[in-house]
Amino acid sequence: MTKILITEFINQSSLENLNKKFDVKYDEKLYENEKQLITMIKDYEGLIVRNKTQVNLDILKNALKLKFIGRLGVGLDNIDTEYCKNKKIHVQPATGMNADSVAEYVISSSMSLIKKIPMFHNGTIKGEWPRTTIKSIEINQKNLGIIGFGIIGKKVAEYSSKNGLKILAYDPYVKEINDKEIDAKLSSLKEIYEKSDIISIHLPLTDETKNMVNEFSFSQMKNKPIIINTSRGGIINESDLIKAYHKNIISGFALDVFENEPIESKFYHKIKPGMNCILTPHISGVTTESNIRVSDFIVKKITDFFN
Ligand SMILES: NC(=O)c1ccc[n+]([C@@H]2O[C@H](COP(=O)([O-])OP(=O)(O)OC[C@H]3O[C@@H](n4cnc5c(N)ncnc54)[C@H](O)[C@@H]3O)[C@@H](O)[C@H]2O)c1
Repeated sequence: MTKILITEFINQSSLENLNKKFDVKYDEKLYENEKQLITMIKDYEGLIVRNKTQVNLDILKNALKLKFIGRLGVGLDNIDTEYCKNKKIHVQPATGMNADSVAEYVISSSMSLIKKIPMFHNGTIKGEWPRTTIKSIEINQKNLGIIGFGIIGKKVAEYSSKNGLKILAYDPYVKEINDKEIDAKLSSLKEIYEKSDIISIHLPLTDETKNMVNEFSFSQMKNKPIIINTSRGGIINESDLIKAYHKNIISGFALDVFENEPIESKFYHKIKPGMNCILTPHISGVTTESNIRVSDFIVKKITDFFN
């Protein structure tokens, strides 16, 4: 029987389905023990991970039987995909399966931040009643700049245009927008920085995108935008972001991903009550519904592959 190793959490009913067809070893904490994973991996033909398992050279060199890696999520920056390609190991992300969850996060955090809800909340629970001292604006007819116009970027555009936002999209690998459902204008990065009231990042973390939004990017922003990053930490320079906030170049930010995860004190100590920001622990794509979709999708793909 084909042997499958799962090193992070998977939806229970999807696991039960997998157990009917394969010899499955499931240990949702195995990602914490790289040494053990290195010795175990040699026996397995299939591996299923989320984003915490570092599927690096040390593991892959020992993965003598491995033919398939299923990723319960989208970004592949924790997997040495180049090595997998050379060794003909198929790497399967759960493309699109958590796009709705991320899009809902982007629209809800945009609305909260443009309305300055974190600041109103902070003032109110301190008894300040900041009804006229904090000014908020509406989302309707504002410009949303989307950087990275792939599956999630497009889903965010779809959700946002229904809420009255005008969409500008930057993605050098997208030459035209064919989909009639999506009302967006392809733009330069400069135009996005200059015209956007909200900027949302939907890029993979690569050598090209690392540190892409930095001090120079912030210096080009004219509308004091809200910045939202649900893609990967390291794409926005965190220190430049905080400086831009204190210089009033941006008016708020929502971060779901961080340069170092779990978040480190050297960063979160810079976040003070009363700042117009929302910080969350890499959950924008994780909901009950998306967990089921993602897990079922990977179970189907691995079953098809070995059949
Ligand atoms: N926080 C979460 O829970 C969560 C959930 C899902 C996905 N993500 C992240 O979101 C990212 C986007 O996901 P997706 O499904 O839309 O991926 P995708 O591959 O469909 O889209 C990424 C887009 O980025 C574009 N791109 C690549 N390099 C670029 C560059 N230098 N400049 C501009 N555009 C560039 C690509 O052309 C592509 O269209 C993933 O890589 C993943 O890291 C995070």
